[in-house]
Amino acid sequence: MGNMIIKNANQLVTCSGFKGKTGKEMDDIHVIENGAVVIEDGIIKKVGKTDEIMANVDESKYEVIDATGKAVLPGFVDSHTHFVFGGYREKEFDMRLRGCSYMEIMQAGGGIANSTNGTLKASKEDLIELGKKRLDSMLKFGVTTVEGKSGYGLDFDTEIKQLEVMKELEKIHPMDISKTFLGAHAVPVGYKGRGEDFIDYIIETVLPHVVENDLAEFCDIFCEKNVFSVEESRKLLNKAKEMGMKLKLHADEIVHLGGADLAAEVGAVSADHLLQASDEGITKMAEAGVVATLLPATAFSLKEHYARGRFMIDNGCAVALATDFNPGSCHTESIPLLFALSTLYMNMTIEEAITALTINGAAAIDRAHEVGSIDEGKKGDLVILEFPSYKFIPYHIGVNTVEKVIKGGKLVV
Ligand code: NIG
Ligand code: FE
Repeated sequence: MGNMIIKNANQLVTCSGFKGKTGKEMDDIHVIENGAVVIEDGIIKKVGKTDEIMANVDESKYEVIDATGKAVLPGFVDSHTHFVFGGYREKEFDMRLRGCSYMEIMQAGGGIANSTNGTLKASKEDLIELGKKRLDSMLKFGVTTVEGKSGYGLDFDTEIKQLEVMKELEKIHPMDISKTFLGAHAVPVGYKGRGEDFIDYIIETVLPHVVENDLAEFCDIFCEKNVFSVEESRKLLNKAKEMGMKLKLHADEIVHLGGADLAAEVGAVSADHLLQASDEGITKMAEAGVVATLLPATAFSLKEHYARGRFMIDNGCAVALATDFNPGSCHTESIPLLFALSTLYMNMTIEEAITALTINGAAAIDRAHEVGSIDEGKKGDLVILEFPSYKFIPYHIGVNTVEKVIKGGKLVV
Protein backbone atom coordinates (compact mmCIF):
# COMPACT_ATOMS: atom_id res chain seq x y z
CA MET A 1 0.00 0.00 0.00
CA GLY A 2 1.34 3.40 -0.96
CA ASN A 3 2.10 6.82 0.48
CA MET A 4 0.94 9.43 -1.98
CA ILE A 5 -0.05 13.08 -2.27
CA ILE A 6 -2.26 14.38 -5.03
CA LYS A 7 -2.15 18.18 -5.06
CA ASN A 8 -3.40 21.19 -7.03
CA ALA A 9 -6.47 19.38 -8.33
CA ASN A 10 -8.59 21.92 -10.17
CA GLN A 11 -11.61 20.11 -8.73
CA LEU A 12 -11.40 17.57 -5.95
CA VAL A 13 -14.77 15.85 -6.06
CA THR A 14 -15.01 14.06 -2.70
CA CYS A 15 -18.57 12.62 -2.82
CA SER A 16 -18.10 12.76 0.95
CA GLY A 17 -20.22 10.38 3.03
CA PHE A 18 -20.28 7.00 4.74
CA LYS A 19 -23.65 5.69 3.63
CA GLY A 20 -25.87 5.65 0.56
CA LYS A 21 -27.34 9.02 -0.44
CA THR A 22 -30.99 9.63 -1.17
CA GLY A 23 -33.08 12.36 -2.78
CA LYS A 24 -31.42 15.77 -3.03
CA GLU A 25 -28.23 14.56 -1.32
CA MET A 26 -27.39 12.71 -4.54
CA ASP A 27 -26.98 16.02 -6.36
CA ASP A 28 -24.38 17.35 -3.89
CA ILE A 29 -20.97 15.83 -4.64
CA HIS A 30 -18.81 18.18 -2.50
CA VAL A 31 -16.27 19.85 -4.77
CA ILE A 32 -13.09 21.38 -3.31
CA GLU A 33 -11.34 23.77 -5.68
CA ASN A 34 -7.56 23.47 -5.79
CA GLY A 35 -7.74 20.40 -3.58
CA ALA A 36 -5.22 17.93 -2.22
CA VAL A 37 -5.33 14.44 -0.72
CA VAL A 38 -2.75 12.74 1.49
CA ILE A 39 -2.68 8.93 1.48
CA GLU A 40 -0.59 6.90 3.95
CA ASP A 41 -0.32 3.10 3.84
CA GLY A 42 -3.11 3.09 1.30
CA ILE A 43 -5.57 4.99 3.52
CA ILE A 44 -6.72 8.61 3.07
CA LYS A 45 -5.26 10.73 5.90
CA LYS A 46 -6.06 14.30 4.88
CA VAL A 47 -8.37 16.04 2.41
CA GLY A 48 -8.62 19.78 1.82
CA LYS A 49 -7.31 22.86 0.01
CA THR A 50 -3.81 22.36 -1.41
CA ASP A 51 -2.21 25.35 0.38
CA GLU A 52 -3.55 24.28 3.78
CA ILE A 53 -2.65 20.61 3.35
CA MET A 54 0.82 21.23 1.95
CA ALA A 55 1.76 23.69 4.71
CA ASN A 56 1.97 20.77 7.14
CA VAL A 57 3.44 17.83 5.21
CA ASP A 58 6.93 16.74 4.25
CA GLU A 59 6.58 15.98 0.54
CA SER A 60 9.76 13.93 0.41
CA LYS A 61 8.03 11.03 2.18
CA TYR A 62 5.41 10.60 -0.54
CA GLU A 63 4.99 9.94 -4.22
CA VAL A 64 3.58 13.29 -5.36
CA ILE A 65 1.18 13.75 -8.26
CA ASP A 66 0.52 17.27 -9.48
CA ALA A 67 -3.09 17.36 -10.70
CA THR A 68 -3.01 20.94 -12.00
CA GLY A 69 -5.79 21.40 -14.53
CA LYS A 70 -7.43 18.06 -13.68
CA ALA A 71 -10.50 16.88 -11.82
CA VAL A 72 -9.99 14.17 -9.21
CA LEU A 73 -12.80 11.83 -8.06
CA PRO A 74 -13.20 8.71 -5.92
CA GLY A 75 -12.54 5.45 -7.78
CA PHE A 76 -15.77 4.15 -9.32
CA VAL A 77 -17.61 1.20 -7.77
CA ASP A 78 -19.20 -1.16 -10.31
CA SER A 79 -21.65 -2.88 -7.99
CA HIS A 80 -23.23 -5.45 -10.36
CA THR A 81 -21.26 -7.59 -12.81
CA HIS A 82 -20.95 -11.20 -13.96
CA PHE A 83 -17.34 -10.98 -15.10
CA VAL A 84 -16.24 -14.61 -14.56
CA PHE A 85 -17.49 -16.72 -17.46
CA GLY A 86 -16.22 -18.96 -20.24
CA GLY A 87 -17.30 -18.62 -23.88
CA TYR A 88 -19.03 -15.73 -25.61
CA ARG A 89 -22.54 -15.20 -27.03
CA GLU A 90 -21.95 -12.96 -30.00
CA LYS A 91 -24.28 -15.17 -32.08
CA GLU A 92 -27.14 -14.46 -29.67
CA PHE A 93 -26.44 -10.74 -29.96
CA ASP A 94 -26.82 -11.13 -33.71
CA MET A 95 -30.06 -13.14 -33.25
CA ARG A 96 -31.47 -10.35 -31.09
CA LEU A 97 -30.67 -7.81 -33.81
CA ARG A 98 -32.65 -10.04 -36.17
CA GLY A 99 -35.73 -9.99 -33.95
CA CYS A 100 -35.42 -12.79 -31.34
CA SER A 101 -36.03 -11.65 -27.79
CA TYR A 102 -33.69 -12.36 -24.87
CA MET A 103 -36.31 -14.59 -23.23
CA GLU A 104 -37.04 -16.48 -26.48
CA ILE A 105 -33.35 -17.32 -26.79
CA MET A 106 -33.28 -18.42 -23.15
CA GLN A 107 -36.36 -20.62 -23.56
CA ALA A 108 -34.85 -22.25 -26.66
CA GLY A 109 -31.89 -23.43 -24.57
CA GLY A 110 -29.51 -20.52 -25.18
CA GLY A 111 -28.82 -17.58 -22.92
CA ILE A 112 -27.50 -18.33 -19.46
CA ALA A 113 -27.41 -22.09 -20.27
CA ASN A 114 -25.03 -21.31 -23.12
CA SER A 115 -22.63 -19.55 -20.76
CA THR A 116 -23.02 -22.39 -18.26
CA ASN A 117 -21.58 -24.79 -20.86
CA GLY A 118 -18.71 -22.41 -21.62
CA THR A 119 -17.93 -21.93 -17.94
CA LEU A 120 -18.12 -25.66 -17.23
CA LYS A 121 -15.55 -26.35 -19.97
CA ALA A 122 -13.13 -23.60 -18.91
CA SER A 123 -10.43 -24.53 -16.42
CA LYS A 124 -9.87 -22.48 -13.28
CA GLU A 125 -6.64 -21.17 -14.85
CA ASP A 126 -8.50 -20.12 -18.03
CA LEU A 127 -11.09 -18.25 -15.97
CA ILE A 128 -8.41 -16.53 -13.89
CA GLU A 129 -6.65 -15.39 -17.06
CA LEU A 130 -9.89 -14.10 -18.61
CA GLY A 131 -10.95 -12.47 -15.34
CA LYS A 132 -7.60 -10.69 -15.04
CA LYS A 133 -7.96 -9.16 -18.51
CA ARG A 134 -11.51 -8.02 -17.76
CA LEU A 135 -10.48 -6.45 -14.45
CA ASP A 136 -7.61 -4.65 -16.23
CA SER A 137 -10.11 -3.17 -18.65
CA MET A 138 -12.42 -2.04 -15.83
CA LEU A 139 -9.50 -0.43 -14.01
CA LYS A 140 -8.78 1.70 -17.08
CA PHE A 141 -12.32 3.08 -16.84
CA GLY A 142 -11.56 4.12 -13.25
CA VAL A 143 -13.30 1.24 -11.48
CA THR A 144 -11.41 0.35 -8.29
CA THR A 145 -14.02 -1.88 -6.62
CA VAL A 146 -16.17 -4.38 -8.43
CA GLU A 147 -18.89 -6.82 -7.48
CA GLY A 148 -18.79 -10.18 -9.27
CA LYS A 149 -21.34 -12.98 -9.30
CA SER A 150 -21.26 -16.71 -9.82
CA GLY A 151 -24.28 -18.08 -11.69
CA TYR A 152 -22.75 -19.66 -14.78
CA GLY A 153 -22.28 -22.96 -13.00
CA LEU A 154 -25.67 -23.90 -11.59
CA ASP A 155 -24.04 -27.11 -10.39
CA PHE A 156 -21.93 -27.41 -7.26
CA ASP A 157 -18.48 -27.67 -8.84
CA THR A 158 -18.81 -24.89 -11.38
CA GLU A 159 -20.47 -22.42 -9.00
CA ILE A 160 -17.70 -23.00 -6.47
CA LYS A 161 -15.09 -22.75 -9.24
CA GLN A 162 -16.38 -19.29 -10.21
CA LEU A 163 -16.28 -18.06 -6.61
CA GLU A 164 -12.80 -19.51 -6.07
CA VAL A 165 -11.61 -17.79 -9.25
CA MET A 166 -12.68 -14.44 -7.79
CA LYS A 167 -10.94 -15.29 -4.52
CA GLU A 168 -7.72 -15.94 -6.46
CA LEU A 169 -8.14 -12.77 -8.51
CA GLU A 170 -8.41 -10.71 -5.32
CA LYS A 171 -4.92 -11.90 -4.41
CA ILE A 172 -3.24 -11.10 -7.72
CA HIS A 173 -5.11 -8.02 -8.92
CA PRO A 174 -5.33 -4.53 -7.40
CA MET A 175 -9.13 -4.46 -7.84
CA ASP A 176 -11.25 -5.02 -4.71
CA ILE A 177 -13.86 -7.69 -5.43
CA SER A 178 -17.15 -8.18 -3.61
CA LYS A 179 -18.31 -11.74 -4.26
CA THR A 180 -21.92 -12.77 -4.76
CA PHE A 181 -23.34 -16.29 -4.94
CA LEU A 182 -25.93 -16.38 -7.75
CA GLY A 183 -26.54 -20.15 -7.86
CA ALA A 184 -30.20 -19.37 -8.62
CA HIS A 185 -29.49 -17.61 -11.92
CA ALA A 186 -31.50 -20.02 -14.11
CA VAL A 187 -33.20 -23.40 -13.77
CA PRO A 188 -30.70 -25.93 -15.21
CA VAL A 189 -31.82 -28.40 -17.88
CA GLY A 190 -31.92 -31.31 -15.42
CA TYR A 191 -34.46 -29.43 -13.27
CA LYS A 192 -36.68 -28.18 -16.10
CA GLY A 193 -40.14 -27.39 -14.67
CA ARG A 194 -38.88 -28.10 -11.13
CA GLY A 195 -37.53 -24.72 -10.03
CA GLU A 196 -38.59 -25.38 -6.44
CA ASP A 197 -36.54 -28.59 -6.27
CA PHE A 198 -33.55 -26.72 -7.64
CA ILE A 199 -33.92 -24.08 -4.92
CA ASP A 200 -33.94 -26.90 -2.35
CA TYR A 201 -30.79 -28.36 -3.93
CA ILE A 202 -29.05 -24.99 -3.63
CA ILE A 203 -30.17 -24.53 -0.04
CA GLU A 204 -29.14 -28.02 1.03
CA THR A 205 -26.01 -28.58 -1.01
CA VAL A 206 -24.30 -25.46 -2.35
CA LEU A 207 -25.16 -22.66 0.08
CA PRO A 208 -23.68 -24.37 3.17
CA HIS A 209 -20.34 -24.86 1.37
CA VAL A 210 -20.32 -21.22 0.21
CA VAL A 211 -20.95 -20.00 3.76
CA GLU A 212 -18.57 -22.38 5.52
CA ASN A 213 -15.71 -21.49 3.17
CA ASP A 214 -16.49 -17.78 3.15
CA LEU A 215 -16.71 -17.80 -0.65
CA ALA A 216 -19.29 -15.01 -0.99
CA GLU A 217 -20.67 -12.12 1.01
CA PHE A 218 -23.99 -11.85 -0.86
CA CYS A 219 -26.66 -14.24 -2.10
CA ASP A 220 -28.57 -13.14 -5.23
CA ILE A 221 -31.38 -14.65 -7.34
CA PHE A 222 -32.94 -13.97 -10.76
CA CYS A 223 -36.53 -13.35 -9.64
CA GLU A 224 -38.35 -13.28 -12.98
CA LYS A 225 -41.29 -14.83 -14.82
CA ASN A 226 -40.23 -18.26 -16.18
CA VAL A 227 -37.09 -18.21 -14.01
CA PHE A 228 -37.65 -18.06 -10.20
CA SER A 229 -40.93 -16.99 -8.62
CA VAL A 230 -41.31 -14.57 -5.72
CA GLU A 231 -42.06 -17.53 -3.40
CA GLU A 232 -38.93 -19.43 -4.51
CA SER A 233 -36.86 -16.27 -4.18
CA ARG A 234 -38.24 -15.56 -0.71
CA LYS A 235 -37.36 -19.09 0.41
CA LEU A 236 -33.75 -18.95 -0.79
CA LEU A 237 -33.10 -15.41 0.41
CA ASN A 238 -34.48 -16.00 3.89
CA LYS A 239 -32.41 -19.15 4.20
CA ALA A 240 -29.27 -17.32 3.06
CA LYS A 241 -30.00 -14.53 5.55
CA GLU A 242 -30.36 -17.08 8.35
CA MET A 243 -26.94 -18.40 7.38
CA GLY A 244 -25.43 -14.94 7.71
CA MET A 245 -25.35 -13.77 4.10
CA LYS A 246 -26.34 -10.33 2.83
CA LEU A 247 -28.92 -10.23 0.06
CA LYS A 248 -29.36 -8.94 -3.48
CA LEU A 249 -32.00 -9.56 -6.14
CA HIS A 250 -32.33 -9.33 -9.90
CA ALA A 251 -35.81 -7.84 -9.58
CA ASP A 252 -38.66 -6.69 -11.82
CA GLU A 253 -36.50 -6.64 -14.93
CA ILE A 254 -38.62 -8.00 -17.77
CA VAL A 255 -42.01 -8.59 -16.12
CA HIS A 256 -43.41 -6.97 -12.97
CA LEU A 257 -43.43 -9.76 -10.36
CA GLY A 258 -42.98 -7.80 -7.14
CA GLY A 259 -39.23 -8.28 -6.75
CA ALA A 260 -38.82 -4.73 -5.43
CA ASP A 261 -41.41 -5.43 -2.72
CA LEU A 262 -39.65 -8.68 -1.84
CA ALA A 263 -36.30 -6.87 -1.58
CA ALA A 264 -37.83 -4.53 1.00
CA GLU A 265 -39.49 -7.41 2.84
CA VAL A 266 -36.32 -9.50 3.23
CA GLY A 267 -34.07 -6.50 3.93
CA ALA A 268 -31.88 -6.84 0.84
CA VAL A 269 -28.91 -4.49 0.52
CA SER A 270 -29.85 -3.84 -3.11
CA ALA A 271 -32.44 -4.71 -5.74
CA ASP A 272 -31.16 -4.50 -9.28
CA HIS A 273 -32.59 -3.79 -12.79
CA LEU A 274 -36.11 -2.65 -11.67
CA LEU A 275 -37.35 -1.66 -15.13
CA GLN A 276 -40.86 -2.82 -14.20
CA ALA A 277 -40.86 -1.93 -10.50
CA SER A 278 -44.17 -0.45 -9.33
CA ASP A 279 -44.60 2.84 -7.48
CA GLU A 280 -45.47 0.84 -4.40
CA GLY A 281 -42.39 -1.38 -4.70
CA ILE A 282 -40.17 1.68 -5.08
CA THR A 283 -41.74 3.33 -2.01
CA LYS A 284 -41.19 0.17 0.02
CA MET A 285 -37.54 0.04 -1.09
CA ALA A 286 -37.04 3.67 -0.08
CA GLU A 287 -38.56 3.01 3.34
CA ALA A 288 -36.50 -0.14 3.90
CA GLY A 289 -33.27 1.51 2.72
CA VAL A 290 -32.73 -0.92 -0.18
CA VAL A 291 -30.35 0.54 -2.78
CA ALA A 292 -31.87 0.64 -6.29
CA THR A 293 -29.09 -0.51 -8.60
CA LEU A 294 -29.92 0.50 -12.15
CA LEU A 295 -28.27 -1.11 -15.14
CA PRO A 296 -29.05 1.10 -18.14
CA ALA A 297 -26.48 -0.53 -20.42
CA THR A 298 -28.54 -3.75 -20.19
CA ALA A 299 -31.75 -1.91 -21.08
CA PHE A 300 -29.85 -0.30 -23.97
CA SER A 301 -28.43 -3.60 -25.17
CA LEU A 302 -31.82 -5.37 -24.94
CA LYS A 303 -33.57 -2.37 -26.54
CA GLU A 304 -35.82 -2.03 -23.47
CA HIS A 305 -37.01 1.18 -21.86
CA TYR A 306 -34.94 2.52 -18.94
CA ALA A 307 -35.65 2.10 -15.23
CA ARG A 308 -37.30 5.14 -13.63
CA GLY A 309 -34.18 6.58 -12.02
CA ARG A 310 -35.61 10.10 -11.76
CA PHE A 311 -38.77 8.85 -10.04
CA MET A 312 -36.76 6.67 -7.66
CA ILE A 313 -34.46 9.53 -6.62
CA ASP A 314 -37.41 11.90 -6.20
CA ASN A 315 -39.14 9.29 -4.04
CA GLY A 316 -36.30 8.76 -1.61
CA CYS A 317 -34.36 5.78 -3.00
CA ALA A 318 -30.59 5.62 -2.97
CA VAL A 319 -29.84 4.94 -6.64
CA ALA A 320 -26.64 3.23 -7.81
CA LEU A 321 -25.54 2.64 -11.40
CA ALA A 322 -23.63 -0.44 -12.53
CA THR A 323 -22.61 -2.06 -15.81
CA ASP A 324 -24.06 -5.59 -15.38
CA PHE A 325 -21.08 -6.68 -17.51
CA ASN A 326 -21.87 -10.24 -18.66
CA PRO A 327 -21.61 -12.41 -21.79
CA GLY A 328 -25.29 -12.17 -22.73
CA SER A 329 -27.67 -9.35 -21.95
CA CYS A 330 -24.97 -6.69 -21.61
CA HIS A 331 -21.45 -7.32 -22.84
CA THR A 332 -19.84 -4.06 -21.77
CA GLU A 333 -17.77 -2.79 -18.87
CA SER A 334 -18.02 0.78 -20.19
CA ILE A 335 -18.44 3.45 -17.52
CA PRO A 336 -18.72 6.26 -20.14
CA LEU A 337 -21.75 4.46 -21.60
CA LEU A 338 -23.44 4.48 -18.17
CA PHE A 339 -22.87 8.21 -17.85
CA ALA A 340 -24.30 8.80 -21.31
CA LEU A 341 -27.44 6.75 -20.74
CA SER A 342 -28.17 7.93 -17.20
CA THR A 343 -27.77 11.63 -17.96
CA LEU A 344 -29.27 11.75 -21.46
CA TYR A 345 -32.04 9.16 -21.15
CA MET A 346 -32.83 8.72 -17.46
CA ASN A 347 -32.91 12.42 -16.58
CA MET A 348 -30.28 12.08 -13.91
CA THR A 349 -27.96 15.03 -13.33
CA ILE A 350 -24.22 14.61 -13.82
CA GLU A 351 -23.80 14.89 -10.05
CA GLU A 352 -26.42 12.19 -9.38
CA ALA A 353 -24.72 9.87 -11.86
CA ILE A 354 -21.38 10.42 -10.10
CA THR A 355 -22.96 9.70 -6.71
CA ALA A 356 -24.57 6.58 -8.19
CA LEU A 357 -21.17 5.28 -9.36
CA THR A 358 -19.22 6.15 -6.21
CA ILE A 359 -20.73 6.34 -2.72
CA ASN A 360 -24.05 4.74 -3.72
CA GLY A 361 -22.26 1.99 -5.66
CA ALA A 362 -20.32 1.35 -2.45
CA ALA A 363 -23.57 1.31 -0.45
CA ALA A 364 -25.01 -1.24 -2.91
CA ILE A 365 -22.30 -3.70 -1.79
CA ASP A 366 -22.31 -2.55 1.83
CA ARG A 367 -18.87 -0.96 1.57
CA ALA A 368 -19.76 2.73 1.96
CA HIS A 369 -17.73 2.80 5.17
CA GLU A 370 -14.50 2.00 3.31
CA VAL A 371 -14.74 3.13 -0.35
CA GLY A 372 -16.85 5.37 -2.59
CA SER A 373 -15.71 8.80 -1.38
CA ILE A 374 -12.58 10.80 -0.67
CA ASP A 375 -12.88 10.92 3.11
CA GLU A 376 -10.33 10.47 5.87
CA GLY A 377 -10.10 6.81 6.87
CA LYS A 378 -11.25 5.41 3.53
CA LYS A 379 -9.11 3.55 1.00
CA GLY A 380 -6.92 5.75 -1.18
CA ASP A 381 -8.79 4.88 -4.39
CA LEU A 382 -8.95 7.81 -6.83
CA VAL A 383 -9.27 8.66 -10.48
CA ILE A 384 -7.65 11.64 -12.16
CA LEU A 385 -9.39 12.90 -15.28
CA GLU A 386 -7.69 14.27 -18.35
CA PHE A 387 -9.92 17.36 -18.01
CA PRO A 388 -10.38 20.19 -15.44
CA SER A 389 -14.03 19.48 -14.63
CA TYR A 390 -16.06 16.38 -13.76
CA LYS A 391 -18.67 17.66 -16.22
CA PHE A 392 -16.43 16.41 -19.04
CA ILE A 393 -17.31 12.81 -18.11
CA PRO A 394 -20.74 12.73 -19.80
CA TYR A 395 -19.99 15.70 -22.05
CA HIS A 396 -17.27 13.73 -23.85
CA ILE A 397 -19.88 11.21 -24.89
CA GLY A 398 -18.87 7.56 -24.77
CA VAL A 399 -15.15 8.30 -24.44
CA ASN A 400 -12.98 7.41 -21.45
CA THR A 401 -11.86 10.62 -19.72
CA VAL A 402 -9.85 8.83 -17.00
CA GLU A 403 -6.12 9.56 -17.25
CA LYS A 404 -4.74 7.99 -14.07
CA VAL A 405 -6.09 5.53 -11.52
CA ILE A 406 -4.80 5.25 -7.95
CA LYS A 407 -5.61 2.18 -5.87
CA GLY A 408 -4.64 2.10 -2.19
CA GLY A 409 -2.25 5.02 -2.74
CA LYS A 410 -0.51 3.40 -5.71
CA LEU A 411 -0.67 4.37 -9.35
CA VAL A 412 -2.19 1.41 -11.23
CA VAL A 413 -3.15 3.03 -14.56
O1 NIG B 1 -28.32 -9.29 -15.02
N1 NIG B 1 -30.89 -11.06 -15.71
C1 NIG B 1 -30.19 -12.04 -15.47
N2 NIG B 1 -28.87 -12.10 -15.45
C2 NIG B 1 -27.99 -11.28 -16.18
C3 NIG B 1 -27.84 -11.74 -17.57
C4 NIG B 1 -27.06 -12.93 -17.66
C5 NIG B 1 -26.84 -13.44 -19.06
O2 NIG B 1 -27.57 -13.11 -20.01
O3 NIG B 1 -25.87 -14.19 -19.17
C6 NIG B 1 -28.41 -9.84 -16.11
O4 NIG B 1 -28.80 -9.21 -17.09
FE1 FE C 1 -27.02 -9.15 -13.66
